[in-house]
This record gives sequence, C-alpha cells and structure tokens, in this order.
Amino acid sequence: MKFLKRIFGICETPSPADPKAWSLNGPAVRIDLACMPELKNSGSGVRLEGKGLDPRLLVVHGDDGQYYAVANRCAHMGRRIDVLAGSGQIQCCSVSKSTYTYDGQPVSGAAKTPLNTFPTAVENNILTIHLRK
Ligand code: FES
Repeated sequence: MKFLKRIFGICETPSPADPKAWSLNGPAVRIDLACMPELKNSGSGVRLEGKGLDPRLLVVHGDDGQYYAVANRCAHMGRRIDVLAGSGQIQCCSVSKSTYTYDGQPVSGAAKTPLNTFPTAVENNILTIHLRK
C-alpha cells in the first residue's frame, strides 16, 4: 500500500484538523500550537496549504525539539514531503525518496538542490513562520 502511495505521490503528513489553528498574516504564518496537535510531538509534521499561502509549507517539530518550515515541493519533481521521525530528516513521498535535512539540504535521492526554508520563532505558544527572509 505504501508503495502505491509513493507511485501516486500521496504523502503521509496530515493537514491541520482545525483549520483555524493557523493563519496567514501578511508575510508571516501564525500557528497556535495549543490548537495544533499535529505538531505536539517531536518528529511530527503538518502541511499547510490554501488561504493564499505561497509556497505551501511543511512545518516540522524536529527530533531536536526545534521547529522548521520548508517549501513543501520536492526539488526533484515537486511532490510533497514527509517527516522521517527519529532520523532528523524529511523525505519526498515519491518513489525516488529524495531526502533532506530539516534545513532543506539534500542528502540522498534524485533531488540535488535544496528546499527553500523559512525562519521560525516561538513565543507564548505561538509559532511564527517568516515567509520573507
Ligand atoms: S519528486 Fe521528490 S524525489 Fe522525485
């Protein structure tokens, strides 16, 4: 089944169950972590799409406890990316399995160029992703 998902490029990472848990405020994404159980545990991730967001994002709660945000388009052919819990890495959902560090550097697979990444900050349980560097 997982192989079929890879053939069709179907990712494992969920969208937020509560669409109101995040918003786009000008050049920043604001996530209320209290309303985003998808990011509760380290080694987890959530994908943010819609609401005028460009690019779509993969937000990662890393194994190191830090938060990361990358453009959720594989540098090979643009498919979505999943978190590999326990590895400190993220991986394309396609059969070619391009794998990246949390900061978007390719480490294996077909992709040879990095993902766009965006700075994050947490204050008062609000995760902010700055879309302009
Ligand atoms: S689209 Fe990601 S490895 Fe091909």
